[in-house]
Amino acid sequence: MKLILLGAPGAGKGTQAEIISEKYGIPAVSTGNILREAVKNQTRLGLEAKSYMDAGALVPDDVIISIIKERFKEPDCAGGFILDGMPRTVVQAEKLDEMGVEIDKALDIEVSDEDIIKRLSGRRVCSVCGSSYHVLYRPPAEEGVCDKCGGELIIRRDDQIETILDRLETYHRQTEPLKDYYEKRGKLVIVEGQEELADTTRLMLAAVEA
Ligand code: AP5
Repeated sequence: MKLILLGAPGAGKGTQAEIISEKYGIPAVSTGNILREAVKNQTRLGLEAKSYMDAGALVPDDVIISIIKERFKEPDCAGGFILDGMPRTVVQAEKLDEMGVEIDKALDIEVSDEDIIKRLSGRRVCSVCGSSYHVLYRPPAEEGVCDKCGGELIIRRDDQIETILDRLETYHRQTEPLKDYYEKRGKLVIVEGQEELADTTRLMLAAVEA
């Protein structure tokens, strides 16, 4: 199974990717998580990506494509994957096609900009394993502590309000055209993001299995 998750920043791609990954035993491949790990470890990639990420802009396509080519070589991708946050531009989508990656579905989670702002300003992420929480909608069992690994929960650097607005603008200009790209190929499935996380999951799983 090869799936793509589309949607604005904060639409719930990472949250749903984790759930689908566990249910179907396929890896969730998040370019955002790969880049954040590189920034944390101050690798060459991380140093290059940081300024783009902090500004709410996209990292150049060629950087993303080489990351994804490396990731696909790992054995866990052999049985399929869920791409979370890639492709992000039409150029990235065309590259995936050129690489011969046959996508089953592109699932687009639709959430209004107003709700996105509420979600991202309450998001907390694990500083160790990257799992995502929300202070109101998905609180951890113990405040500030990751349920999965016990790591400290922190606010992402790009979840400051000015950066959230820049990311939304980038999304509408550069990523939203992908809906049209996948619709023309008969792959697009729209999922209306729900207020309750579990309700979105139910719709997502129904869309995967349809
Ligand atoms: P990335 O990490 O991909 O960030 P993003 O697309 O901005 O998406 P987010 O991770 O912010 O949100 P999400 O949709 O996963 O939502 P989540 O599940 O956390 O990218 C970061 C940066 O890296 C980019 O800005 C760019 O610079 C760079 N980058 C990455 N990939 C790239 C690429 N391919 N090309 C170029 N540059 C790239 O949910 C959000 C919050 O809402 C959470 O707190 C969650 O608990 C809560 N929530 C989720 N669902 C619900 C619900 N139904 N109801 C209530 N709350 C909910």
